Amino acid sequence: MTPPTARLLPVAALASLLALGLSAPCFAQAVSAPAQPTASAQPSVRYDIGYDIFYPVRAQNGMVASEHRLATEVGVATLKRGGNAVDAAVAVGFALAVVLPNAGNLGGGGFMIVHDAKSGRDVAIDFREMAPAKAFRDMYLDGQGKVVPDRSLYTHLAVGIPGTVAGLAHAQEKYGTLPLAEVIAPAIKLAREGYAVTPQLAGLLEVERDHLAAWGATRAVFFKAERPLRVGETLVQEDLAKSLELIAAQGAKAFYEGSIAEKIAAEMAKNNGFITADDLKSYKVVEREPVSGTYRGYTVKSMPPPSSGGVHIVQMLNILERYPLKELGAGSAQTIHLMAEAMKLAFADRSEYLGDPDFTKVPVKGLTARAYADELAAKIDPDKATPASTIKPGKPAPYESDQTTHFSVADSQGNVVSTTYTLNLNFGSGIVAEGTGILLNNEMDDFSAKPGVPNAFGLIGGDANAVQPFKRPLSSMSPTIVLKDGKPWLLTGSPGGSRIITTTLETVIDHIDFAMNPAEAAALPRVHHQWTPDELRVEKGLSPDTVKLLEQKGHKVAVKPTMGRTQTIQLRDDGLYGFSDPRNPDGMTAGY
Ligand code: GLY
Repeated sequence: MTPPTARLLPVAALASLLALGLSAPCFAQAVSAPAQPTASAQPSVRYDIGYDIFYPVRAQNGMVASEHRLATEVGVATLKRGGNAVDAAVAVGFALAVVLPNAGNLGGGGFMIVHDAKSGRDVAIDFREMAPAKAFRDMYLDGQGKVVPDRSLYTHLAVGIPGTVAGLAHAQEKYGTLPLAEVIAPAIKLAREGYAVTPQLAGLLEVERDHLAAWGATRAVFFKAERPLRVGETLVQEDLAKSLELIAAQGAKAFYEGSIAEKIAAEMAKNNGFITADDLKSYKVVEREPVSGTYRGYTVKSMPPPSSGGVHIVQMLNILERYPLKELGAGSAQTIHLMAEAMKLAFADRSEYLGDPDFTKVPVKGLTARAYADELAAKIDPDKATPASTIKPGKPAPYESDQTTHFSVADSQGNVVSTTYTLNLNFGSGIVAEGTGILLNNEMDDFSAKPGVPNAFGLIGGDANAVQPFKRPLSSMSPTIVLKDGKPWLLTGSPGGSRIITTTLETVIDHIDFAMNPAEAAALPRVHHQWTPDELRVEKGLSPDTVKLLEQKGHKVAVKPTMGRTQTIQLRDDGLYGFSDPRNPDGMTAGY
């Protein structure tokens, strides 16, 4: 592992270095010193000078994009050792559980899409959390039928049965090539030796200080005396290292049936939580067919229910394909208007139809059918925003999108992996299960606590997403792969709750319609509409006259904090192009 003292090389400087024809041993957004001298294996790379505004990272053999430099380095090292994209993705998943504690996790859940180059098959691995056996529909309501604030967020009742360890171990066993212990080893080292807290992590610990301080086991990990760790201080996680060692030695069983399971069950019993040892034992990973659609000749594969992401990305692409977005231009008022109208229609359907397919019939085919897109497109007025007035207005989303995390990996054999996993909000419930070092999720908040009452992301839902034992809460996580002529062409995904879906949609459109590279697409200001509240949320950077034109069409435009943090890799004929969203300065894409 490279020591955490990194020499940061600005992207532009790296680009000029490469433009001079100098080869670099490991192409990355942030280059760690000392460089490893394996120049013979390195191609001499030149950028297509003159067209790209921002340069992505470029490599020939393999690439990893994640939200933390140390995790990306673990992934690239795994690829260089001969591991395939799944080996590297699993190694990154375990490493992020250590170095990105606000979102990377063992105590959460997520989704992974794998493209297997040999068979040409795409598979969606669902390791979303499940509600415990004792969960029931009104568990978040008081005697008057009102939602109890924070019960689904910051108590032991907020925790769903975690799926991450089962999901990563499943992917490794079925699609990886290296032993599980080998891909977990770097995470154990990072947990035991520690790493320097970055300004980003220090800021999040400060923001979430009260939630974290409420639990002794959490304070023991992230606090020094009475305050959260600060920038530059070393975060050592000995209990987490021990938990990882148990998983490395015994596999996922350690977490679901062994001593980790015992400790989680004890933590729950002590604090009126619902999860029992039997619940943990019952957890199941599910392999599903990805949701599939086409857009201007490309094939889009994304996450099916219990995520809403894939269904609505395909649904919106079906609607938007009929408009000449390329001519209308990236960031133009007309393009944004059409996207916002498609978003509203999709999110309206989300609130009604989407839920866990093992419990409720989700009309995936109907929602992603072209004929249905015709019907929906007929409702779009090209000049006027349709008011979302038929629905009760939701309260604006009070939380920001730092919580979930996405990572993308491509190897030299054409295998690619697109993964999004989460604890739900930053640091999940804030509860570390005593003796494990493992932060537990608060994914139960993704269920609909009560029809029409918005969750932390301002999303509303109904029966399809009501709490039931062993049901998976509806998600927006959208790990996505775009294929060109049957081969992976783009891998992307993002954190951001409801904004995941629109961020991923925009990233796909930026690459296909506007021929942007991953760096350019990441830099473009994002827009989002989720039907309720009736607000077109935009990032700063839209020109005032664009905002004015949108307002003239009837949109209520609100400039708010940034949305999403993509980790994108584009596979072109001449190599791999990747970029970590600049909205998180800790992220890094690297390849070799
Ligand atoms: N917890 C956010 C999501 O899954 O959509």
